[in-house]
Amino acid sequence: MSAQSPAPLTERGQVLEERGPGPVAVTLSVNGVERSLEIEPRVSLLDALREHLDLTGAKKGCDQGTCGACTVWVDGHRVLSCLTLAMTCEGREVTTIEGLAEGDELHAVQQAFIAEDAFQCGYCTPGQIMSAAALLKEGHAGDDAEIKEWMSGNICRCAAYPHIRAAIRAVRDGA
Ligand code: FES
Ligand code: FES
Repeated sequence: MSAQSPAPLTERGQVLEERGPGPVAVTLSVNGVERSLEIEPRVSLLDALREHLDLTGAKKGCDQGTCGACTVWVDGHRVLSCLTLAMTCEGREVTTIEGLAEGDELHAVQQAFIAEDAFQCGYCTPGQIMSAAALLKEGHAGDDAEIKEWMSGNICRCAAYPHIRAAIRAVRDGA
């Protein structure tokens, strides 16, 4: 005979299944601030940011790694936060769109997106900006073909691509 307590029942008497491990304690450094949370190990970085830390800048477009709307940086490198488990980011620095500006001063890429009118609905924009700022740091903005290639993971359903590239060129050229 097992000493385990019986599985819990629903109101109709059905046995509830165990649905994976419960919450675990995780500490994330987000935009330079340590944040402690209790989450199930399967929680994505995107859901941890949006649902647990109220950082809703990174957007959930597809939740399967195809649109780029959820792009953030981990240790300065772009990641798709919908495909990244939050607990794998413990001990690493997470940067979101909310952490890009220096106080009241927008990042050069944010300013350029405004100046070049590089968005319409704005849903993809946080991801586009995080990718664009990383691409410029990485030195992958040599010409339009290179910009297209290195921004190809960020989809814009409003097709603001020419203006997005203009914003990237403006920062590249110090305009
Ligand atoms: S929401 Fe992550 S790639 Fe679309
Ligand atoms: S500005 Fe609307 S999806 Fe890009």
